[in-house]
Amino acid sequence: MSKRLVIGNWKMNPKSLKEAEALFKGIVTASKDSKNVDIVVCPPYPFLTTAKKVPNKKIKLGAQDTSEMLEGSYTSQVSSSMISSLGATYVIIGHSERRSIGDTDEIVNKKILQALKSKLIPVVCIGENVRDTHGDYLALVKYQLIDCLKNVSKLQMKNIVIAYEPVWAIGSHATRVATPEEFTEMKIFIRKVLSDIFDSKVAHATRVLYGGSVNPQNAQAFVDATADGFLVGRDSLNPKKFGAIIAVCK
Ligand code: PGA
Repeated sequence: MSKRLVIGNWKMNPKSLKEAEALFKGIVTASKDSKNVDIVVCPPYPFLTTAKKVPNKKIKLGAQDTSEMLEGSYTSQVSSSMISSLGATYVIIGHSERRSIGDTDEIVNKKILQALKSKLIPVVCIGENVRDTHGDYLALVKYQLIDCLKNVSKLQMKNIVIAYEPVWAIGSHATRVATPEEFTEMKIFIRKVLSDIFDSKVAHATRVLYGGSVNPQNAQAFVDATADGFLVGRDSLNPKKFGAIIAVCK
């Protein structure tokens, strides 16, 4: 089994470079004793270089998004090769906060293919907005996987991480946290879909993370429910709490 993976998504935080440096140093200290866990921190683009300068061998860096374009006249866009040249190795793609402002599965797919070309590991976010009683949310997740992973090869799947993030469980507007049972059910379903698209070997080798109001109190139950790690928002801004979530994944 591969190591568990804990990813911190800082979103549009903190307010300044100085605070970003202090936060990253705090996370380095809080995660010192974390053998057997892969740790990734995804700061906003301007803070990637700062984090890179803080001495640390353990924590890898990631971006929170990438452009679907290679280069050129695309004001405000940041390409995968730029991200990679800053020393980042991961990139979150298809986060619900990006999907809510226009990222479709087709765009997510293009971004994944660009990221792979630049040797970045895409962390592909999938998840339904609402849970209905007819199970339509399962079909939605299925088609997110099929459409987002179009033209991705079996070999490339070795460098892809799936993050199941039910939108209703994310952020301060969360209606509730998913239950560990709901995660287990979804992980089995995701594996089945991956097995249909690729094969069972790929399905079993792909890490499936849980994201949505993860905290030091609920993390253990998700690990017990076979989560391969976490995508953490709010609690990744608090080194103590982030360190505690990492400790659960050891
Ligand atoms: P949260 O965010 O942990 O604050 O719910 C998770 C995410 O958006 O990835």
